[in-house]
Amino acid sequence: MQMTDVDRTNTPVLRLKDVYYTYPDGVESLRGVSLEVYRDEKVGLVGPNGAGKSTLMTVVIGIRIPRTGEVEVLGQVLNPKTRREIRRRAGLVFQDPDDQLFCPTVFDEVAFAPINMGYPEEQVTEMVARALKQVDLEGYERRSSFHLSIGERKRLAFATVLSYSPEILLIDEPSANLDPQHRRQTINLLKSLPQTMLIATHDLDLVLDVCERCFVINRGRIVADGDVESILTDEQLLLSNGLELPLSRQ
Ligand SMILES: Nc1ncnc2c1ncn2[C@@H]1O[C@H](COP(=O)(O)OP(=O)(O)O)[C@@H](O)[C@H]1O
Ligand SMILES: [Mg+2]
Repeated sequence: MQMTDVDRTNTPVLRLKDVYYTYPDGVESLRGVSLEVYRDEKVGLVGPNGAGKSTLMTVVIGIRIPRTGEVEVLGQVLNPKTRREIRRRAGLVFQDPDDQLFCPTVFDEVAFAPINMGYPEEQVTEMVARALKQVDLEGYERRSSFHLSIGERKRLAFATVLSYSPEILLIDEPSANLDPQHRRQTINLLKSLPQTMLIATHDLDLVLDVCERCFVINRGRIVADGDVESILTDEQLLLSNGLELPLSRQ
C-alpha cells in the first residue's frame, strides 16, 4: 500500500537481530526474532495468544534482556548505558493498564514522565491536557486513576506515553477492553499520530485500518513479514498461525 513512501535505504529506527528470550521459569518466548521497522512506518505485530508479542515489546525497551541477540533503537544498541535515552525516545503502552498506572490521580499519572524528564511545570500542565484530550479524557485531571473503568484506564495508560511524544510508539493490544466507539477513536488516533509505530494485536481489522505492513509472530518466531493486504488476506497463513481472516474480509 503506502510501503513505497517508506525509505528503506535509511537505517531502521528499530532493529532486532536474532533475539532469544527465555523467562526465568524456562519458557523460551522469543526464538531468533529478527525484524526491522523504518521511520514513519506503522507496523502490526500479529499473532495468537502466547506468540511472544508482549515479550517482544518489553525486550525492545530493555525491560527484559535477551539471552542472545541484539536490539537497536534509533541507531543505538540497547544496553544499560543507552536504555534511559531509548526509553525517552521509544514509549511502550502496556497491554494491561495495571502494569503502567501507579499514581493516585490522573494528572499525576500523565505528568509523571514529563516531570521526570525535567519539563517545566507550566509545560507539564499543557502536555497533560493535550495527552488527555487525545484519548478522550479531557478534564479528568483530578479524578482518581483507580476508580476509572477498564476502558478509561486503558486510554489513560496511552496518555501517559503520549504526554512526552516519543518518536517511536510501541503499543500492546490498543483495542483490548475498549467499547466499539472508543475502539474506533483509538484507531483514528493511531492513524492521525505521526510517530513510527509497532502495534501488537490480534485485532486484524485494526491492523488493516492503521498499518501498511505487518509481521506475523507465532511460537516466538516471525513467520511472515509483508504488506497488510497480502498477509491479512492469506487465509492459509492466518489459519496455520492461530488466526482468522479479519472480519471485514470474511
Ligand atoms: N512472566 C512470565 N513468566 C513465564 N512465562 C511467561 C511470562 N509472560 C509470558 N510468558 C510466556 O511467554 C510466551 C509468550 O507470551 P506473551 O509474550 O505474553 O505472548 P502474547 O503477548 O503474544 O500473547 C507464552 O508462552 C507465555 O505463557
Ligand atoms: Mg500480549
